[in-house]
Amino acid sequence: MLKVENLNQYYGGSHILRGLSFDVEPGKVTSLLGRNGVGKTTLMKCLMGLVKSKTGRINFQGKDVTQAPSHERVRAGIGYVPQGREIFPRLTVEENLLMGLAIKPAGARIPEQVFELFPVLKSMLRRRGGDLSGGQQQQLAIGRALAMDPKLLILDEPTEGIQPSIIKDIGHAIRVVARRPIAQKISQSAEERQEVKDAIRKVADTGRVAILLVEQYYDFARDLADHYLLMERGEFIMRGLGADMDKDGVREALAV
Ligand SMILES: Nc1ncnc2c1ncn2[C@@H]1O[C@H](COP(=O)(O)OP(=O)(O)O)[C@@H](O)[C@H]1O
Ligand SMILES: [Mg+2]
Repeated sequence: MLKVENLNQYYGGSHILRGLSFDVEPGKVTSLLGRNGVGKTTLMKCLMGLVKSKTGRINFQGKDVTQAPSHERVRAGIGYVPQGREIFPRLTVEENLLMGLAIKPAGARIPEQVFELFPVLKSMLRRRGGDLSGGQQQQLAIGRALAMDPKLLILDEPTEGIQPSIIKDIGHAIRVVARRPIAQKISQSAEERQEVKDAIRKVADTGRVAILLVEQYYDFARDLADHYLLMERGEFIMRGLGADMDKDGVREALAV
């Protein structure tokens, strides 16, 4: 889905991202861990085209987007929930969610899934974004990214400064989105059964969302990760399967 090769980025004279290569697969959560200041957000901004990468290649769904402007990446299906959320505080919850539909054809509606995952948003549609709690704003930012029906969802430290009950809801949402179960339908006829089978095959091939989750909250990142990457000063110093994170000593490496 996303393939990054030998990405380098500098701020002035300092080499911030150092030859990064990695893949993000559909239907999987890739957790990127690393302490403050190692370059995680800079990498996300490179993926979104908010800062230009100096050298290297970013390929999304078989297309080279290394030089593509941000809006093209969004249109291609990359949803981004920036660190610190960045919702529109003066717009209502509904208007914020509608911003997520900006790339959709006119008349597109906010997918019901957004409200299934975050019911609080439905009850607050008319409130101004800025009046929501931090956790609710984070749900709104994720809801806005989901409204565009992304193929790749990038979340930059979604649990930062958020209370435990909402962290749980966010974790649940990430799981649901990555492994979106196919709508279960009790089918009677052979045609209907075939229809469901075709739908399942289609989703298995292309319909699964890939998730890139930047986190410093180890337990949260581990519980969700299919794959992990550990970054230190702009380089990946460890990588592997989410299931191996404890055994690999990622928690200890993060604490050093
Ligand atoms: N706009 C910028 N100009 C110059 N240096 C920056 C800028 N943004 C971040 N940095 C520096 O780049 C490094 C990586 O920052 P960042 O990507 O935000 O790390 P992280 O998200 O892992 O905390 C840090 O040393 C930070 O101070
Ligand atoms: Mg950051």
